[in-house]
Amino acid sequence: MRRISLLLWLAFSITAVQAAPPDGKALYTTWCAGCHGAKGMGDGPDAKGFDSKPSSLADSSYKRGTSDKAVLKIITKGIPGTPMDGYGNKLKDDQRAALVQYLKVLRGEK
Ligand code: HEC
Repeated sequence: MRRISLLLWLAFSITAVQAAPPDGKALYTTWCAGCHGAKGMGDGPDAKGFDSKPSSLADSSYKRGTSDKAVLKIITKGIPGTPMDGYGNKLKDDQRAALVQYLKVLRGEK
């Protein structure tokens, strides 16, 4: 009996630790789509009126490259002098990592 409760406790603890990973698509919709557009075409409703047009994120023509490292850096630090903010303070590491992966979906690579 004692062994069974120990096993139950273990199973419960492991499940609790393995919380669901952040949802890149939901994060994108909340934080990015306003400017970059729902599908990443750079045509979000907030894009109007900016001097620098939000980049299209839906193909591999990123000016600063599409490596995980380059994209994560932009999401974290932003692009100074443009409306593209850094999200290092607003989003956690695993949330920004999930966005890096979701942009691959928008580019049709995943
Ligand atoms: C306020 C509008 C705005 C929001 C919100 C925004 N961006 Fe941007 N983003 C821009 C603009 C404008 C540029 C282009 C800057 C430039 O190169 O002049 C840009 C550029 C980028 C680039 C670089 C693309 C390239 O060509 O190198 C990436 C990657 C990017 N954004 C990802 C994101 C992600 C991910 C989010 C959400 C966390 C986000 N952006 C939210 C406006 C925005």
